[in-house]
Amino acid sequence: MATVRTDQKQRALMRAVPESFSKALANYFGSGPTDIALARKQHAAYAQALLDSGLEVTILPADENHPDCIFVEDQAIVIDGHVLLPLPGHPSRVAEQPPIADFLSRQLNGFQVCGMFGDARMDGGDLLRLGNIFFVARSKRTNDAGIETLRSLLSHLGHELRIIDIPTEKALHLTSISSTPTDQVILTAEGFLSADDFGELPEGCRIIFLPEEEVYGCNTIGLGNGKVLVAKGYPTVLETIQELGLEPIVLDMSQIREADGSITCCTLFF
Ligand code: GLY
Repeated sequence: MATVRTDQKQRALMRAVPESFSKALANYFGSGPTDIALARKQHAAYAQALLDSGLEVTILPADENHPDCIFVEDQAIVIDGHVLLPLPGHPSRVAEQPPIADFLSRQLNGFQVCGMFGDARMDGGDLLRLGNIFFVARSKRTNDAGIETLRSLLSHLGHELRIIDIPTEKALHLTSISSTPTDQVILTAEGFLSADDFGELPEGCRIIFLPEEEVYGCNTIGLGNGKVLVAKGYPTVLETIQELGLEPIVLDMSQIREADGSITCCTLFF
């Protein structure tokens, strides 16, 4: 059995699907959700999978004024007992943050919270962690000033930061095209990034490139107990997870995908 990451996978924060979800931003791989009842069913099955895996799950109420509110990953970055509240990169998503910030500050007694100011912008979905290395995308949502704020926090914590320019014409976030199902593996799809973009990896770590048509499936969540959440419909991803000695938990994400949402987008681990 491969060693899996154990950090940040005890408690999960999610947010319920609003009726307005059909108006969520959908400019990349989605065309806009059409079946809110099905989206809610899929979201509930996802939450249940986390509960069944032993996580404590909190689901904040939906916010009808913010169709994208289920995508909590973008709204806070939790690293080793510190919370960075980024300024989200799309104006329509900025006001999603206060309830999430309030919840985290109540839960994380003693955690350090820092914010982002001025022109700095970042979506949490642009951050990928492989052990002590953090990869951040320069994207349509994350800019250099945002990256500098993150850099200050990471240098304080002794972690390395690497910047990746993602192809913004076809990739929303770094996590739309990659994930780390374990602390040793980066999954990504051909046709977006090269191994050079990630730079030299620590011994024992590797990048696995999967077919371009399965890029959505490259977004997975390793729960740190050998189980990995994967999206339904991506056979090569599924096979790869099994070959790594991990147990896939397959989730139907079809309606969430229609809002440009991947598996990681729907949860904040803290
Ligand atoms: N619909 C997710 C986003 O664009 O942020």
